[in-house]
Amino acid sequence: MAKSTTRFFCTDCGHEELRWLGQCPGCQAWNTFTEMKVAPAAGASKGARGFSAGDRRQAGFGGASRGHGASAGAAPRPVPLSQIASAATNRIPVEPAEVARVLGGGLVEGSVVLLGGEPGVGKSTLLTGLGLWWVRQGLRVIYVAGEESPSQIRMRAERLGFKPDREDGFLILPEVHLETILAALGEEMGPANAPLPPTIIIADSIQTLHSDVVDAYPGSPTQIRYCGGVLADFARRTGWPVFLVGHVTKTGDLAGPKLLEHMVDTVLYFEGSGGGSIRMVRAVKNRFGTTGELAVMEMRGDGLAPVDQAGLMFLSGRRGIEPGAAVCAVKNGSRTFLVEVQALVSPTRYGTPQRVVQGIDSKRVALLAAILEKRAGLDLAGCDIFVKVAGGGRVDDPGADLAVVAALASSLRERPVPEGTLVLGEVGLTGEVRGVSELEARLREAAGHGFTRAVLAAVAGRKPRGVKGIELATVTSVEEAVALVLEPGPSARRSKEATP
Ligand code: TYD
Ligand code: MG
Repeated sequence: MAKSTTRFFCTDCGHEELRWLGQCPGCQAWNTFTEMKVAPAAGASKGARGFSAGDRRQAGFGGASRGHGASAGAAPRPVPLSQIASAATNRIPVEPAEVARVLGGGLVEGSVVLLGGEPGVGKSTLLTGLGLWWVRQGLRVIYVAGEESPSQIRMRAERLGFKPDREDGFLILPEVHLETILAALGEEMGPANAPLPPTIIIADSIQTLHSDVVDAYPGSPTQIRYCGGVLADFARRTGWPVFLVGHVTKTGDLAGPKLLEHMVDTVLYFEGSGGGSIRMVRAVKNRFGTTGELAVMEMRGDGLAPVDQAGLMFLSGRRGIEPGAAVCAVKNGSRTFLVEVQALVSPTRYGTPQRVVQGIDSKRVALLAAILEKRAGLDLAGCDIFVKVAGGGRVDDPGADLAVVAALASSLRERPVPEGTLVLGEVGLTGEVRGVSELEARLREAAGHGFTRAVLAAVAGRKPRGVKGIELATVTSVEEAVALVLEPGPSARRSKEATP
């Protein structure tokens, strides 16, 4: 085998360079380069990628040779698009339906799914639960256990209701050496042309795997990238879907999972919410579905269960009574959630004013505070500002802007937003309020939970179409919105409207 060479990798984004650099050209981080030994590329293509019984179930790839390594003689020819079968979206059903929706309606054969999340959030629990359901449907699951012993996995499975006599298709492979894993998977394929039960591979976790081809320690960017690439290749050649579990640290995106995002088909992030038992699975990339979908589940003693009334999770119990709270309806993929934005504004006693934000982009909140200050004349510059989303949710929808504005103004003025009022709209730099997408779905969700009034943008100077049970109050600027939301009460407003 040829001599290994030295390369430098950014530990944040995995960017590769031939020499050490102070600042990463990929992600602009400082002092993140580490030196690693890597094997020459030729060794890589001949080594682990030549797993034994591969290439059996070509799913729409035309069966052409991969054209590297030994088959250099027969160079591949480009194939007309019209001759390529579009068979890649054969979906394996998934239960619970929450997770199926995030995957785009099911698990696509031959696809690679990366499941990222903090240690302990429940990644192994989720995948064991999915696996047990699949084996009950007659499928086979191979769980590559790099982190836990087989008996620990058995204990977890028992908590999830495992029946030893009926669920024989759940296979454990306690191994971290990539070449051995591939050999074992090749064995599981049996002799050529024998009928194969559809098999799902779960690699828990990608950080524990290592290959001989790469001269680096397990969990290093090179190992993660190489092992992930080989398993992705395996999935595409065999049609067997592969799940890669990747740990993400509390500080954000660890090198590992980020490195894999471009080579997998689907990236799911598994998050807890506010330290409680609620868990959310979010699709941040999906070649076979929409992103932005959110599955909401609860971690119970016997595994993950769907949450009743998930649309209400981000509301606090006391709606519209306390100053500093405003409710909006946000879209997460095809789902609508009612979200309560809470703000606490108080004069700064000493030092520079504080800005603490949880669950919303803090720059967005700073921008909205500046707009309120400039366009609605609210004096926020000398105040500490704290903003969060109730229930530990996270909001990226610009339609929540007006709720942030309303919550800030409500706290500063010590006036509550009236009960049953929904505040919806995007806010522009000039203080204008804009409409939101899929308004009807949002209003319907709110009406279903007893909301009776919505403050929102006028569309082209007119009232948008409403929903039964919700009175619409339109505004064009943040100034109007603040006045309308915080005015003493509906009775006062009605009397004002009555007088011409
Ligand atoms: P785990 O799936 O091991 O997390 P990860 O693989 O992401 O590191 O789950 C860890 C936590 O979940 C652990 O603290 C125990 C808890 N748990 C339950 O509450 N109920 C259950 O049924 C199971 C299996 C785990
Ligand atoms: Mg685990």
